[in-house]
Amino acid sequence: MLRKLMRKKTADIQSLQERIHTVKQRQMPNHVAIIMDGNGRWAKQRKMPRIAGHHEGMKTVRQVTNFANDLGVKALTLYAFSTENWKRPKIEIDFLMNLPGEFLNTYLPELMEKGIKVEMIGNMDALPAHTKTAITKAMEITKNNTGLILNFAMNYGSRLELVHVMKELAREVESGNMEIEAIDENVINSKLMTAHLPEPDLLIRTSGEVRLSNFMLWQLAYAEFIFTEVLWPDYNEECFLQAIEDFQNRDRRFGSLEGDRKG
Ligand code: FPP
Repeated sequence: MLRKLMRKKTADIQSLQERIHTVKQRQMPNHVAIIMDGNGRWAKQRKMPRIAGHHEGMKTVRQVTNFANDLGVKALTLYAFSTENWKRPKIEIDFLMNLPGEFLNTYLPELMEKGIKVEMIGNMDALPAHTKTAITKAMEITKNNTGLILNFAMNYGSRLELVHVMKELAREVESGNMEIEAIDENVINSKLMTAHLPEPDLLIRTSGEVRLSNFMLWQLAYAEFIFTEVLWPDYNEECFLQAIEDFQNRDRRFGSLEGDRKG
């Protein structure tokens, strides 16, 4: 019985390795964006407090980050706290604000070893000082790393981001520094918080919810969307691999009739 189980496990690992080998031969998404949802329900199913789900979700962040880096994904943006999440109970907000510090204190050596670079989008000013310090320190320490960009969306809201872009452009036009006619998609891209990142080509949302929740509304214009029932704390390498395989089997046409089968 044990031997049979061991044989099955070895076969599963082999087939995972083969699948990884295959996806690496095909076109990898440059930038994957994830709405990590379902932490609360995961905890509720286990009669645990919601914060236990967020803590477990942090471990998934580590696993998916390392795997995305191994696969050669260039950027991974994780929606960790939205501008709307301030409406949650204080105890939950406080816990969520502690997670970047805990994550970065625990895993910074590993991030350095793997060459992962930490970045952030969102309004940092409104974050508690300890959260700001943890993120700023990690960004500084990892700034020369050339592997995956691990981009946390913290206190991020896409509409607010777009309001800032519009105000900035209006100011430039008003001051005579820019002609209205000069405003095009590239100019708007250059003003977004994601200006230096490749456009996300894959969006994943966990937990069965099928909406964008104010996440990168402009940037996701041509992304492929994958919604899975799996709750974020249960999400793992195999789920991520499956998402990449699904992405690679999509026919991306960007509005034209020509298919773009990758690989
Ligand atoms: C949504 O699930 C999840 C969040 C608002 C927080 C996501 C944060 C993490 C996964 C941890 C982040 C880790 C670091 C290192 C910053 P939910 O609570 O809305 O779940 P529910 O819909 O089941 O209630």
